Amino acid sequence: MKNRPRRLRANENIRRLSRETRLSVDSLIAPLFLIEGENIKNEISSLEGHFQFSPDRVCEEIENLLSKGINKILLFGIPKEKDCGGTGSYDDNGIIQQGILEIRKTFGDEIYIITDVCMCEYTSHGHCGILDGETVDNDKTLEILAKIAVSHAKAGSDMIAPSDMMDGRIKYIRKQLDKNDFKDTAILSYAVKYSSAFYGPFRDAVGSAPSFGDRKTYQMDYHNRKEGVKEALIDQDESADMIMVKPALSYLDVISDVAKNSLVPVVAYSVSGEYAMIKSAGKLNIVDEYSIMCETAVSIYRAGADILITYFAKELADAIKKGDIG
Ligand code: PBG
Repeated sequence: MKNRPRRLRANENIRRLSRETRLSVDSLIAPLFLIEGENIKNEISSLEGHFQFSPDRVCEEIENLLSKGINKILLFGIPKEKDCGGTGSYDDNGIIQQGILEIRKTFGDEIYIITDVCMCEYTSHGHCGILDGETVDNDKTLEILAKIAVSHAKAGSDMIAPSDMMDGRIKYIRKQLDKNDFKDTAILSYAVKYSSAFYGPFRDAVGSAPSFGDRKTYQMDYHNRKEGVKEALIDQDESADMIMVKPALSYLDVISDVAKNSLVPVVAYSVSGEYAMIKSAGKLNIVDEYSIMCETAVSIYRAGADILITYFAKELADAIKKGDIG
């Protein structure tokens, strides 16, 4: 016999030596939810093990992350008040801005802070932009997005992550950041973001479900694959430092295409619905949660992701440390 592929599977040592995909804790980003108020730590019912933290309590969780070697976080804000213009999003005393200040005060530069830039958590109608009748006005929304970005940068965000899916926003935000002397603030573009039912648990967590209609006029149609590469290349050209594909598991083909065609790091966001499905199936003893978590995470990297945003960040860090994956 000429070919015996089983030679490379004979024992743990050779299997580990010949692995094609390597994982590192360095490449994990943990999402965190900030809520306005004091002394709050509310478990999110749809996202077991995740909490809404008031700025004065969030550092407890960051300590836990750091103890596992995770020092990159993605912040989402839940404001007390919403209005039709989403004005709380760019308030210098808003929830994200307060959170950043608190985190910096405690951890300095030990932690890398990425902030989600979008209006949906702050608008009374739950859409990701300024409405003109029932449609989101792209160009009017750009101005607000840039204001949010500048306000996050001012508070000390390291990286701005616009998740709104308006056209032209990376260029617009970059220009405003530069103009305001935030040339070193990076941009992670949610460039390839599909309109997806996998965001359900997240919308419950932050109360951002649209009050009418859906997000299909701005988020992408999941029938499309080439369009993923198109969106990635547009944002790369507009100066995005990193490109995100979201969700992850049903979009491994898109992750692979984007990784092959873009020149910047590719970030996959394994979203709330992916986490919730694995958690629930594990709880029902239908699958083994830990093994499924490991297998799905590796598959996302194998597809071409360089970086992973995941609600399993802490558990994956442990799995990597134990040597079960990576
Ligand atoms: C805000 C935003 C969403 C997610 C990240 N940023 C929700 C949405 O677009 O409806 C989803 C994250 C998740 O499901 O884990 N625009």
